[in-house]
Amino acid sequence: MYNTLMFILGIETTCDETAAAVVERTDDAPGRILSNVVLSQISEHAEFGGVVPEIAARAHVEALDAIIGTAMREAKLSFADLDGIAAAAGPGLIGGVIVGLTTAKAIALVHDKPLIAVNHLEAHALTARLTDGTAFPYCLFLASGGHTQILGVRGVGDYLRLGGTVDDAIGEAFDKTAKLLGLGYPGGPLVEKEAARGDPERFALPRPMTGRHDANFSLSGLKTALRLEAQKIAPLSDDDVADLCASFQQAVGDVVLDRVRTGLRMFVDQIGKPTALVCAGGVAANQAIRKVLHRAAFEIGISLVAPPPALCTDNGAMIAWAGAERLALGLTDPLSVAPRARWPLTDVTRANA
Ligand code: KG4
Ligand code: ZN
Repeated sequence: MYNTLMFILGIETTCDETAAAVVERTDDAPGRILSNVVLSQISEHAEFGGVVPEIAARAHVEALDAIIGTAMREAKLSFADLDGIAAAAGPGLIGGVIVGLTTAKAIALVHDKPLIAVNHLEAHALTARLTDGTAFPYCLFLASGGHTQILGVRGVGDYLRLGGTVDDAIGEAFDKTAKLLGLGYPGGPLVEKEAARGDPERFALPRPMTGRHDANFSLSGLKTALRLEAQKIAPLSDDDVADLCASFQQAVGDVVLDRVRTGLRMFVDQIGKPTALVCAGGVAANQAIRKVLHRAAFEIGISLVAPPPALCTDNGAMIAWAGAERLALGLTDPLSVAPRARWPLTDVTRANA
């Protein structure tokens, strides 16, 4: 029904990155990224210590047309050459989602191309197939600023939730730690940098939820424990900050190792042996986290597939790729498809929208 060779434009505007990319998909190989343009709004949100939704939506409106133009130029394609237009239709900050999805609808309508409304989490989940051609079923550890989940990925539109956070996302915990210690935003990379020269044993922080039979996470107690330790020794020296970051990162690493081990056990019980452990989301850019994931995978004789950091954080290529995977199955969406602030991955099926 569809060409084996397809070119898809992907648009991502769910948070604070305005991004567009073009990827190529064939039936028998990993994908090829022809262009991947990401404009981060970090500087516009930094003074507020987090993403301000209204500022984000306006910035997407201002930047998106030019970003799409650049992505098309770099891919050396015209809209007429495309096989489909994909946009993240949620979950995310609704103002931004509307900007990206409406733009995609306009391009699809004018150029008479199929529209694919992509779930942002499904795009993170399928990135390993773009970069490494990973076969189903695999176990996914998805950790970003808004989400922390362990999932069984059985196929496109076929996800089993094995565990998730009951309060803060891991990236959020990194961001709040950075804010508390006056490091800036976004916190993950800054905490990781400080942790590299700190003493991870100095502060005895809790490892919440470890040892439990489910694969859930809870990060808020860890965050509170860190705040109390910081208050005890205030004012903080540079070394104190580094030691707090190192102790925090070590605690998160221990929690991730324990929870992912449990998630993998659940996967084996409920689905069978996974082909790989895959990580996705901004937190997967963290080298200490990657190390424990390697260990958890190695222990059960599978490998860790970790896409390059630039493809772990939000980008247009992952949206384009998820669009390509869906289009290859004949899954497209009507122009009436609605943007969604909330859209759990387990609600995504093969029967779309
Ligand atoms: O996937 P992403 O780009 O956006 C969301 O969908 O949330 O993830 C961003 C999150 C932020 O919370 C950021 O602090 C975190 O990922 N992050 C990191 C690192 N790089 C980004 N967390 C820990 N270590 C890092 N190196
Ligand atoms: Zn994301």
